[in-house]
Amino acid sequence: MMHSPLPAPSPDLISPDLIARFTAIVGGKYALTDANDVAPYLIEQRGIYQGRTPLVLRPGSVAEVSAILKLANETRTAIVPMGGNTGLVGGQMAFNGEIVLSLARLDKVREVDAASNTMTCEAGVILANAQAAASEAGRLYPLSLGSEGSCTVGGNLSSNAGGLQVVAYGNARELTLGLEVVLADGRIWNGLNKLKKDNTGYDLKNLFVGAEGTLGIITAAVLKLFPRPRSVETAFIGLPSPRAALDLLSLTRDRAAGTVTSFELISRTVLEMGLNFTQGAREPLDDKHPWYVLMELSSQAGSGLHEALEDVLGTALERGMITDAVLAASLEQAKSFWRLREQLTEAQKPAGGSIKHDISVPIAVVPEFLEEATAAVQKMVPGCRPAPFGHLGDGNMHYNVSQPVGADKTAFIARWDEMNTLVHGIVAKYQGSVSAEHGIGVMKRDILPLVKDPVAMELMRTLKATLDPNGILNPGKVL
Ligand code: FAD
Ligand code: MLT
Ligand code: ZN
Repeated sequence: MMHSPLPAPSPDLISPDLIARFTAIVGGKYALTDANDVAPYLIEQRGIYQGRTPLVLRPGSVAEVSAILKLANETRTAIVPMGGNTGLVGGQMAFNGEIVLSLARLDKVREVDAASNTMTCEAGVILANAQAAASEAGRLYPLSLGSEGSCTVGGNLSSNAGGLQVVAYGNARELTLGLEVVLADGRIWNGLNKLKKDNTGYDLKNLFVGAEGTLGIITAAVLKLFPRPRSVETAFIGLPSPRAALDLLSLTRDRAAGTVTSFELISRTVLEMGLNFTQGAREPLDDKHPWYVLMELSSQAGSGLHEALEDVLGTALERGMITDAVLAASLEQAKSFWRLREQLTEAQKPAGGSIKHDISVPIAVVPEFLEEATAAVQKMVPGCRPAPFGHLGDGNMHYNVSQPVGADKTAFIARWDEMNTLVHGIVAKYQGSVSAEHGIGVMKRDILPLVKDPVAMELMRTLKATLDPNGILNPGKVL
C-alpha cells in the first residue's frame, strides 16, 4: 500500500548476461543502466513513490517491443511499461527491480484521416502533439489533461484517462476505436480498427484500455476525432455552494446555444493554493467566494455563443445561483484561467502533506458527499484542510485533504489509510467509485477487493492469468 516502506532490495536482480540479451534488442544507446540515466524513471510527479530498476529499455519499433516481451516471457523477467510517467497511482513505477519499458520513442502519428475522423498514433506520442496533429488537419482530439505536455497516448489509454472535457466527449475509452497491442508472449495483435460499427465478436480493445499495463503493451491506437468548434467561451464563476453549481449546470444545458465542454468545480481552499503557486496568477474575481466554477462552452456556430453565455449568467445571478462571474475577454485570459486550474495538482505540494481521493458519485449527490466528507475528515483531524476540486460535470471530485497548518507532515500522512476508509465509506453510501479516473496502480490495489464485486474480481484474475500466464506484465499492480 501507499506508505509501506519500499521493499528491501531483492537478490533476484537481472543477471548481467540477461541484461546483455535485452540490450542487444534495442542497442546500447537505448538500454540505460547508469544510475544517473535511470534516476528520472524511478520518481514520479507527486514524490510519493520511489522505484528501483537495473535496466530501462527504450525500444524504437513495435518489432523491438515484441522481441523484448518474448525474451521477458521466456526468462520470466518482469516488465513495467511507462509512457510519460505522469500517472498518479504508482502504476508506472518499478518497485521490485523490474525492467522499465519506456514507450517514449514510439512517437509517430502514423496517420490523420480527416474524412473518417480518425487518427492513428503510436503509444509514445505526447498528448499535446496528438492534439496538435488533429488540429493541423482541422479536427479536434478532445482528450485534455493538466499533464498533456508530457503524458502519452499509450499512458492515457492504459489508465483510461478522463480530464477536462469528459462531460462533452467522454474519457479515453470512449475516444478509442482500435489498438495495436504486444501480448505478454511477444505476439502482436493488430486491432487498428477504424470502423464505428464492427460486431465481430468480443470487444478486445476494451480489455487493454484501463488495464494499466497488466494485460499487454499498447503500441498504437486509432483515436476518434471531432470537428473543431468555431466558437469557444470561457467563464470563471463565484458561487455559494456545490448545489448552486449543479443548478448552474442544469440551467446552462437548458439555455445555452452550445455544448458544455468543461464544468470544473474549485473550492476556495484549493484556489488559494493555486494563486500562491502559479506565477503571475491573479484573483479571477474581485471578491472571494467559497466555491468557483470554471466553465467552457463550445459551438459549431460562428456567433451567438458569447451572448448565450451572458444570458445564462445574468439569469443565474438574478436567481442567486451565482454571486459573480467573469467571461474571458481574450484567448490569453481564457488560457490564464486554465493555467490556474491545471496547476492545482502541483499547487497542493507547498501546503504540506495531502491525502488524496479520486472519487465519483452520481452527479446529483456531489453536494451531499462533499458536506459529509468534510464533516467526517475535520472530526478525524481537527484543523485539516479539505481542498476539493474536480470535474463536477462527471460527478468526479479530487477530494484531497491537506494537513493542518504547522502540523507534522509524517504524522498526518500516517493516517492516509484511515482517512481513505472514512471517505470511501461515504462514497460507498452513494454507490460511487473509489477511482474515478486515475486508476488503481498500487495506491488502491488493496482497496479494490474490498469494494469490487467478488465475481468481477475473479473474472479480472482469470483474464490476467489467461493473457499473462507467467505474470511478467506490471506485477503487483491493479490485482
Ligand atoms: P504513465 O504514468 O507512464 O503510465 C500510466 C499507467 O499506464 C501505468 O500503469 C503504466 O504501466 C501504463 N502504461 C503506460 N504506457 C503504456 C503502454 N503503452 N502500454 C501499456 N501500459 C502502459 N488523469 C486523468 O484521468 N485526468 C486528469 O485530469 C489528469 N490530470 C493530471 C494532471 C497532472 C498535473 C498530472 C501529473 C497527472 C494527471 N492525470 C490525470 C494522471 C495522468 O496524467 C494520466 O493518467 C495520464 O493518462 C498518464 O499518461 P502517461 O503517459 O504519463 O502514463
Ligand atoms: C486533475 O483533474 O487536475 C487531475 O486529475 C490531477 C489531480 O487529481 O491532481
Ligand atoms: Zn482530474
